[in-house]
Amino acid sequence: MNESARIDDANATDESVVIDVTGLTKEFGRTVALQGASLTVSRGEIVVLLGLSGSGKSTLLRHLDGLETPTSGSVRVLGQEVPRLTGRRLRALRSRMGFVFQQFDLVPSLTVLENVLTGALAELRGPRIGLWSYPRRLKLTALGHLDRVGLLDRAYQRADTLSGGQQQRVAIARALMQNPEILLADEPVASLDPESSEQVMALIREIAMDEGLTVVCSLHQVDLALSWGDRIVGLRHGEVALDTPVEGLSKAAVMEIYGRVATSTTELSAIEVELADAAAAADLDSADLDSATLVDGSLRS
Ligand SMILES: Nc1ncnc2c1ncn2[C@@H]1O[C@H](COP(=O)(O)OP(=O)(O)OP(=O)(O)O)[C@@H](O)[C@H]1O
Ligand SMILES: [Mg+2]
Repeated sequence: MNESARIDDANATDESVVIDVTGLTKEFGRTVALQGASLTVSRGEIVVLLGLSGSGKSTLLRHLDGLETPTSGSVRVLGQEVPRLTGRRLRALRSRMGFVFQQFDLVPSLTVLENVLTGALAELRGPRIGLWSYPRRLKLTALGHLDRVGLLDRAYQRADTLSGGQQQRVAIARALMQNPEILLADEPVASLDPESSEQVMALIREIAMDEGLTVVCSLHQVDLALSWGDRIVGLRHGEVALDTPVEGLSKAAVMEIYGRVATSTTELSAIEVELADAAAAADLDSADLDSATLVDGSLRS
């Protein structure tokens, strides 16, 4: 089945909805991090959360994993209301989700293989110290995942001797140890150079397609969102300001939406940087550009 058929299929029944967030509001004291945000994700979809710093991306992802409790609204993941879960039931739901972070969070002094194996700790009893303490079956699985991310030859090397891009690939292999149904990734390439960023995003997409994984990944780079997502959900001040399939969407169109919703000078300067990049990109279709929006790479109202 091709990708679009798979997604159409997935939309056909409610059982295919794996994430259903409705009217989610989260306040931290006086800060409103999320304001009535709603989002529905179907099985197998690759959704990019796009937004400027402080727009609520991490907060939304953390609600999906039960790391935050909503001020109001509903967060359903894999058919369960996340905020109602505690203890064993919350752990059981979390074990069905892999989480990849910006800072990889590997144990630097352990080997690559041991780091990957820690992804299986949820299914083992008690702490594990050293490779010998893991069952052979899991070691073989871990080696398989390392092969999948192209790092089999690094299995016995200390994690802190790898490059950033390689460490993030190890973190992806670690997430795969859970055999997750959903992969949540919070700015997985924010610490990487452009080439490694492309490689890591390509890998996430490839694995998601092969395994039928649902992915929700936050990014702040419009280019990456357009290349690697099926759908873009744009957050602005905790509200969903954009929710659209990537197909047929141009960078200029996304930037225009950002331009329209910008309200602070910080946001405007961030957008100006993005627009300057957009103007420099050779592949930008000038016909798509709204001349009122982009003049000499800077924003005009
Ligand atoms: N634990 C917290 N306590 C207080 N305020 C918080 C907390 N977590 C997030 N916030 C605030 O909520 C808002 C949204 O933050 P969040 O981290 O979700 O944004 P983000 O889109 O992930 O930003 P970035 O791109 O910088 O990672 C920000 O104003 C932030 O300061
Ligand atoms: Mg964040």
